[in-house]
Amino acid sequence: MNMEEQFILSPARQLTDAEKELIWRRPPSHKASEEELRICREIKRNWNRGEMKIANILLEGDAGSGKTQLAKALSARLGLPYTKVTCFADMDKTDVIGAILPVVSRESLEKMEPEEQKLLKALYESDGFQSAAEILMDVLGVSQEQAALRMKKLLKLAAENTEGEAVEYRFYPSEIVRAYQKGYILEIQEPTVIRDAAVLMALNSALELDGSINLPTEIIRRHPDFIAVITTNRNYAGCRPLNEALRDRIQHTEKMDLPPKEVMMERAAAKTGYRNREVLDVLAEIIIVLDKTARANAIKGVAGMRSFFYWADAVAAGASARESLYHKVIYKITTDSEEIRLLEEALTSQGLLASLEEVELEVKKTKC
Ligand SMILES: Nc1ncnc2c1ncn2[C@@H]1O[C@H](COP(=O)(O)OP(=O)(O)O)[C@@H](O)[C@H]1O
Ligand SMILES: [Mg+2]
Repeated sequence: MNMEEQFILSPARQLTDAEKELIWRRPPSHKASEEELRICREIKRNWNRGEMKIANILLEGDAGSGKTQLAKALSARLGLPYTKVTCFADMDKTDVIGAILPVVSRESLEKMEPEEQKLLKALYESDGFQSAAEILMDVLGVSQEQAALRMKKLLKLAAENTEGEAVEYRFYPSEIVRAYQKGYILEIQEPTVIRDAAVLMALNSALELDGSINLPTEIIRRHPDFIAVITTNRNYAGCRPLNEALRDRIQHTEKMDLPPKEVMMERAAAKTGYRNREVLDVLAEIIIVLDKTARANAIKGVAGMRSFFYWADAVAAGASARESLYHKVIYKITTDSEEIRLLEEALTSQGLLASLEEVELEVKKTKC
């Protein structure tokens, strides 16, 4: 068997062209990680073992550690379409399950604002492949949360414009239901922010291995290929821990931190095209020390992979490494002078600011 295909879960499954489009294609910059291979092996190993099946995964850890990309990499490896839901505080049950939209008559439709007409038409004309939120995101170019809010306004509007009439209703399943029913990989981003306990319960029952979801129109069974990947940043301000009941449904968890220095350098080189190993080494080392120091001193911000990429990219473009350290990394962690002093001290005591100056000099010399 081809190495690339060793983890395909359901080789006999026929996907539609639209579904095939949803399978992630690894870009050349993607580097397979240990976590990725471990999860694939685990899922594959237990795939046909009934109750022991592993289909609810939790990736918890630092922002930028690669959780979303790992969920996408699973799509590529396992051969399943990828989709995601970005949770938000005011999520309600229609966001988890879907919405019932009355079909407004042509006359009423024509009296509405042009944008409202456009949105309702897009919804009525959809072939049912996309969820309502996806349709609105496409038409308006907005985030999932904004699309969800917009949908609620449209529901109200449609209800007002059909009052007292005998109308046809259409049900629009949510992205969650779609993935659940059709057997996709669903990344559930940050369910920790959801406030309504009933919404958490609905999400929780959707994660039952042998579960089903009750829609107003029908009962939907969990597709055997449905895999839920919950991704959550540990401990960031305003973020509660993951609900215990949800946590209890998880069958495999990865703790996602800053990757090892080698991997950090590899990813940064792949992403920015900058390949000066000596420089990348010092920058990575500094990120690691800042990350540790921030934690040890209860400084809230993060020095993560994203800061590292932007910093390396600025240096690659000729910016001073010392100066851009502040704009790309330190000020993103904190702008409090006392906290900045603590971070600087940590770098000085490990000789890292000196190393930074050294590699900068080297770079300048080779350019002359
Ligand atoms: N395995 C990988 N190989 C190369 N780059 C990666 C890998 N994983 C993550 N990255 C890069 O790191 C950045 C952050 O990854 P992301 O998955 O968005 O993190 P998170 O979801 O944990 O916040 C992205 O720019 C992504 O392209
Ligand atoms: Mg993410």
